[in-house]
Amino acid sequence: MSGASIPYLPQRTRCDRTPAWQALRAHFEQSGAAFDVRQAFAADPQRFDAFSLQAPHVFADLSKNRIDATALALLLDLADQCGVAAHRDAMFSGAAINTTENRPVGHVWLRNRPPALTNAACDAIDSIADSSPDLAGPMAAEVARTLEAMLAYAEAVRADPVITDVVNIGIGGSDLGPQMAVQALQAYGHPARRFHFISNVDGHELAALLPRLRPESTLFLVASKTFTTIETMTNARSARAWFAAQGGTDVARHFAALTTNVAEARAFGITTTFGFWDWVGGRYSLWSAIGLPIALAVGAQRFRELLAGASDMDQHFASAPLARNLPVWLGLLDVWYRNFHGFTSRNLAPYHSALRRLPAYLQQLEMESNGKRVDIAGQTLPYETAPVLWGEPGTNGQHAFFQMLHQGTDVVPVEFVAVRTASHTLADHHGLLLANALAQAQALMQGRADPGGHRHFTGNRPSTFLLLDALTPASLGALIALQEHRVFVSGSVWGIDSFDQWGVELGKVLAADIAPRLTSGDATGLDGSTAGLLARLRG
Ligand code: F6P
Repeated sequence: MSGASIPYLPQRTRCDRTPAWQALRAHFEQSGAAFDVRQAFAADPQRFDAFSLQAPHVFADLSKNRIDATALALLLDLADQCGVAAHRDAMFSGAAINTTENRPVGHVWLRNRPPALTNAACDAIDSIADSSPDLAGPMAAEVARTLEAMLAYAEAVRADPVITDVVNIGIGGSDLGPQMAVQALQAYGHPARRFHFISNVDGHELAALLPRLRPESTLFLVASKTFTTIETMTNARSARAWFAAQGGTDVARHFAALTTNVAEARAFGITTTFGFWDWVGGRYSLWSAIGLPIALAVGAQRFRELLAGASDMDQHFASAPLARNLPVWLGLLDVWYRNFHGFTSRNLAPYHSALRRLPAYLQQLEMESNGKRVDIAGQTLPYETAPVLWGEPGTNGQHAFFQMLHQGTDVVPVEFVAVRTASHTLADHHGLLLANALAQAQALMQGRADPGGHRHFTGNRPSTFLLLDALTPASLGALIALQEHRVFVSGSVWGIDSFDQWGVELGKVLAADIAPRLTSGDATGLDGSTAGLLARLRG
């Protein structure tokens, strides 16, 4: 299966040229800039109900944000005028919406019951099959076959008592998603398995791990969509050399490759391979073979539940009216804050330690997807796109950077993620944790008066509160899919290609040029700073 042949040619108006954008600008100048959430609550006892929404597995309270009914209505107009719904439908139905790479965007097809494979959208799939038989016709069957093979392998390894350590070697989307999910689902984890994630080309990472492993009880997963990423291939070569040096022989049993480039994996010497497709973006790939560490950790059934939770959110995104559609709300709020309020970043505060890698995961999702300065036609944009995303688990963040969130000169919208029930039985902790999450959101909004004093909190600092009932495979799947789709919505309004990542290429090319110079000392053509640093590094 390769790229689709149906190009996506949207007939859309750029967002800043729509009537809704002008109306939003006028509304912001008239009342949005001075909007005070406290006054809004005082004026409207129904505000919590009006600005909260139950989506599959995720409840969201947006009422503490600087938004009123008019702004929301105008933002929904903006989504309409930018063709967000048509763009979303184009993704689900397989059009090549990743225009710069002329590929469809198919991570939603990897989940259970993807909308594209149900009801009316089946027709669209069939039409893709007609025009590009290598894509859609056998697609569902091949996706299902691959999933079954991967899950059967996961169960076989889980049943093998000899394998105690699983080492995932991958970077970016081939690391962050599986690592985040394995940690998030630690309560469901296999008690007798240790998982390690090696991503950095910095040898300190792998060198610190290897002495703790034994070749006969270790499974290395080489995870790379392209199987060319220099960090991953360097780590994989070192792992293979260590394995051989320790007397390891059975490569087929102790190495598996997760990749779209099965041929390259075989050339590398790995015969146990699980493939996926170029229409699965790296940062959207944990649902594919890249998710094997998750399946190894929680088992086949739980992995299916993860997919099903994501699928539930897909159904919501695909079919709920935009006015009651949570990914649409969040994506539009992001646009409101970035382009009208001028907020430059968003803080993500997961109040659950198992979600400690969620900020890192969402950094790639948000900033690699929407950190773009041109539209899909390559025209320079006159407005801002992706915010900086950052965060740490609560309550740790409270004792570090929350000072700045409460009293700094910048306003940073905070997104709390909390889980109603704990998966441990320690007394007192969870109540205190939740109390802290609520208190921080309350303090950001309410502030505290001490005019002129150091104890003055201005308040009116916006936050969103996402609440899961329990941290389960299904709710995690839904939470991740929610974030994927909200990034889709803001990227769609901004008119950018959220699915390419050309911005990471230049550094890779320059690193390849510089690496041999560290040995040769050749500084020809280098700028003065790089040449000076090169000389220093060579000692
Ligand atoms: O450098 C960026 C990137 O291409 C990401 O988009 C991707 O997730 C990561 O590198 C890893 O790529 P691969 O899975 O091909 O090794």
